[in-house]
Amino acid sequence: MSRLVVISNRVAVPKQGESGNQGGLAVALQSALRQHGGLWFGWSGETTEQFTGTIHDAEGAGITTATIDLEEQDIEEYYNGFANRTLWPLFHYRIDLTEFERDFEGGYQRVNQRFADTVAPLIEDDDLVWVHDYHLIPLGKKLREGGLRNRLGFFLHTPWPPTRLLTALPSHRKLVESLFAYDVVGFHTEDWLDSFHHYVTSLMGGTVDGTRVTVGDRTICAIIAPIGIDTAEFEAAATSDEARFARERMYMSATGRSLIVGVDRLDYSKGLRQRFLGYERFLASQPERRGLTSFLQIAPPSREKVDTYQEIRADLDALSGRINGEYADIDWTPIRYVNRGYPRQDLAGIFRAARVALVTPLRDGMNLVAKEYVAAQDPEDPGVLVLSVFAGAAEQMKDAVLVNPYSAEEMADALVTALTMPREERIRRWQALIAGVREQDVFWWCARFLDALEAVKEREMA
Ligand code: ADP
Ligand code: G6P
Repeated sequence: MSRLVVISNRVAVPKQGESGNQGGLAVALQSALRQHGGLWFGWSGETTEQFTGTIHDAEGAGITTATIDLEEQDIEEYYNGFANRTLWPLFHYRIDLTEFERDFEGGYQRVNQRFADTVAPLIEDDDLVWVHDYHLIPLGKKLREGGLRNRLGFFLHTPWPPTRLLTALPSHRKLVESLFAYDVVGFHTEDWLDSFHHYVTSLMGGTVDGTRVTVGDRTICAIIAPIGIDTAEFEAAATSDEARFARERMYMSATGRSLIVGVDRLDYSKGLRQRFLGYERFLASQPERRGLTSFLQIAPPSREKVDTYQEIRADLDALSGRINGEYADIDWTPIRYVNRGYPRQDLAGIFRAARVALVTPLRDGMNLVAKEYVAAQDPEDPGVLVLSVFAGAAEQMKDAVLVNPYSAEEMADALVTALTMPREERIRRWQALIAGVREQDVFWWCARFLDALEAVKEREMA
C-alpha cells in the first residue's frame, strides 16, 4: 500500500477527551490517516515574524504531522482574506458577503507556493498526495511546477458554486484551470459535480465522458465521494461513561421536557438565525407546546477575525436574548445558547439525549453533525433528524425530515412533525438512516477516493 500524504490548511490531532471545534474536515482526516498511515501537512495555526519554512514534527494518536508557521500578513491575506472572505462566502452562495481584493489573491498564491516548497522535500516517490479544500486549490499546480510526478488528488469539502456565481470572482478561470494539475478531483454530491461540469463545458470548451473531464490535452478524473464519519467510533462514544454522564446532565436540566439540539460552528452558512426564527415561529404558533420543549444550540466561535463572523455572533446574541425575553418563564428558558466546544463523547451523549436535532444550514458541502446525530441514537428509542435540503447530506439522508431552512413556517411544522412522531416511525426512519451512515462511513469515503487515485498511472514527465 502506498503511503499517504495529506495536505490541508488545518491540521488538528486532539488528545483523547480534549474538547474540539475543528470542523468536519479535521475530524474525518484523523480517522482516515489513522487507518492508512502517512503524513499530515498543514499550517500550525501559529504566527511567525518571518517565514522560514521550519517544520514542526509531531506524533499523536497514531498520526504523524508536519506543520509550518505563517506570517501575520499571510494569515490576513490567505486565511482571513482569500479563503474566508472571498472563497468561503462565494462557494456558499453568499455573494453579498464576498469581498474581492487583489491583495487577498496575492497572499493566497504566496502561501500556496510556501506550502508547495516546504512539503515537496517530504514527499517520497511512491506516495499518494491528497490535497484538501478551498484554501489550497492552486497547490497541485505549484507542486507540478516544482517537478512533482506523484499521483495527486484534490477534494473540495464545500459546495462548488453555480457558474454564474463563480464568474463573479475576477480570477475564476485561473482558479479552475489550476484544478487540472490534479489527477483526481472529488466532490461530496452530484449537485457540486454538475456545477463543475457546467463551468468546464460552457466556459472552457471542455468535454465530459463519465468521470473523465478533458480540457485541451489534459484529462482529469472528477468523482463524487460523499464523506462519512467514523461511525463505529461514534456509536461507541455514545455509550461511553462520559456520554452517559452528559446525557444525564441533559435530562436533569430538561426536567421532563423534549430536548431539541443544534451543534454547529458559529458560521452564517449554518442558518442559525433562520433556525432561531423557525423555533420562535413554533413557539408562537403552538402555545400549548410552549414550556414542553427545550432547545439547546451549541455554537463555538469560528474565524473570529473576519467581521461577518463577528456580526453573526452579535446578531445571534441579540436574537436569542429577544426570544428568551419574550417567551421565557420563571422555570423555563426556551433557547439555551452555548458558545463552546465539547469533547466528542460528551457531544455524543448530548445527541443521544435529544429527541430532535436541527441541522438546517442554508448551504453546506456535506454536514457531518447530521451523521453524528444518527450514529449516537438509542436504537430502541431514536430521535428525529430535521435536515436542510441544502445540506450535501440531504442527497444521502432522505429518511430525515427534510426542510427548507429559509421558511420559518416549514421549520415550525417540521418541529411539530418530529416532536409528535410515533416511536415506530422514528425507528423505521432511523434504521434506514443508520444503515447508510454505517455503510458509507469515513473509511468507505477514503477508499473510494484513494481507489480512484491509485488507478491513475504515475505521470510521465514531459
Ligand atoms: P463544518 O465542517 O462546516 O464545521 P460539519 O458538520 O461537517 O461542519 O462538521 C463539524 C464537526 O465539528 C463535527 O464533527 C462536529 O461534531 C464538530 N463540532 C461542531 N461543534 C462542536 C462543538 N461545540 N464541540 C465539539 N465538536 C464540535
Ligand atoms: C469547514 C472547512 C474546513 C475547515 C473547517 C473549520 O469544514 O471545509 O476546511 O477546517 O470548516 O474551519 P477553520 O477555519 O476553523 O479551519
